[in-house]
Amino acid sequence: MKLTFIGAGYVGLVTAAVFADLGNECLVVEIDEEKVQKLTKGELPFFEPGLSELVKKNVFKKRLQFTKDYKKTIPQAEIIFICVGTPTKNGKIDLSYVYSAAKSIAENLESPSLVVVKSTVPPGVNRKITKWMRRFTKVDFDLASVPEFLREGKALEDSLRPYRIVIGVEKRSVAKKLLALHKKIPGKKLVCDPASAQMIKYASNAFLPTKISFANSIAVLCDKFGANVEDVIKGMGMDKRIGPEFLGAGLGYGGSCFPKDVQALSGLSKKAGYPFSILTAVEKTNKKQVDYFVKKVLRLCGGSVKDKILVVLGLSFKPDTSDIREARSLLVISELQKKGAKISACDPVAISEARKVLKRVRFFNDPYKALREADALILVTEWEVYKNLDFVRIKKLLKSPIVIDGRNVYNRKKLEKLGFVYEGVGK
Ligand code: UGA
Repeated sequence: MKLTFIGAGYVGLVTAAVFADLGNECLVVEIDEEKVQKLTKGELPFFEPGLSELVKKNVFKKRLQFTKDYKKTIPQAEIIFICVGTPTKNGKIDLSYVYSAAKSIAENLESPSLVVVKSTVPPGVNRKITKWMRRFTKVDFDLASVPEFLREGKALEDSLRPYRIVIGVEKRSVAKKLLALHKKIPGKKLVCDPASAQMIKYASNAFLPTKISFANSIAVLCDKFGANVEDVIKGMGMDKRIGPEFLGAGLGYGGSCFPKDVQALSGLSKKAGYPFSILTAVEKTNKKQVDYFVKKVLRLCGGSVKDKILVVLGLSFKPDTSDIREARSLLVISELQKKGAKISACDPVAISEARKVLKRVRFFNDPYKALREADALILVTEWEVYKNLDFVRIKKLLKSPIVIDGRNVYNRKKLEKLGFVYEGVGK
């Protein structure tokens, strides 16, 4: 099929590259000329395992192209995907990019077409977008909703083997077309109306953080009652009704999705006259978890971190991404700096992003260099390289052998045997 994607952000780029690789002709409209030039050379604005290769391969095969020009692509597209951002500020969702993309699409339509909203938008907004588009075109079109469920760092895996594909449509013929497009992608497919599809996205992105905050509260209680949260989660997860996933306790959730979508659903529900109190607690718990962790660092460092060199391992909001949006590292570092600590920080790919926002931090690519003569090691993001560090070597490097594990990845017994003082969260 001839497909057009509006927006070469995370969602647009990954989806276009995957559909191109499945044999479709994909054109991505991006208003930033420099980005268009770079993408055409296969240079990505962010790090995502495997994506650069996939983009290069499909650009070379001419199945994936980038342009600034709506006119060039809209008239011939069989399906047009809106993949622009919907930032949320104080619970208010900014839909201006969606409306602007919808207007440009409408202005350039020449024959009946199918437009699909991939951006995360409030349930029911398709009706308003349709009305808005009709102001700029007489050409007939359908508006559907196919939310995305990709995880950063695992985007290709999630696109090619998703848990589910949700297709929100008003007409059976549109469902047929979208099912045909997704035919080569395995996984369960659910056809429903657009508002329900959009609600599935928000509900999922609010439920997973609820699980995380729940696990984090249990972890704090485990600390207080002398239980081990890892065993507790394992035991809970053995019950199929609960399941073990997204109950990983530690520093809480960050990123460009969960914090934004929890806030957005919370704001939407308030506006609808039904304050979603669970979500208020989820957000509050996530924030409290960082404070709890910082207090732990202070206690383990003898009550004060003033002038102590603390090494933070991991800056991105999770492993395998350069994204630092809402990363717990930023909060932990800023809190420790306020208390007088000198921060050294390491990350395999996020240092250049972190440099833009973090001040008075010494950055290191090599954790062993950072740890020389330092007062404590603080794990914030569980990159694979940090999970497999040589602690015999680290013991000789650190001034005081303290390890504080914000993601519960290290083995307490092993570290204590080597002479470290170790604490995780709830274990
Ligand atoms: C999330 C969802 O998982 C995707 O399904 C969704 O498509 C995406 O948001 C989106 O809306 O675009 P993502 O933000 O990439 O994906 O990352 P996750 O892997 O879900 O992790 C989010 C945060 O939760 C990270 O900070 C991670 O460290 C934290 N987390 C995750 C925990 O603290 N504990 C866990 O057990 C799991």
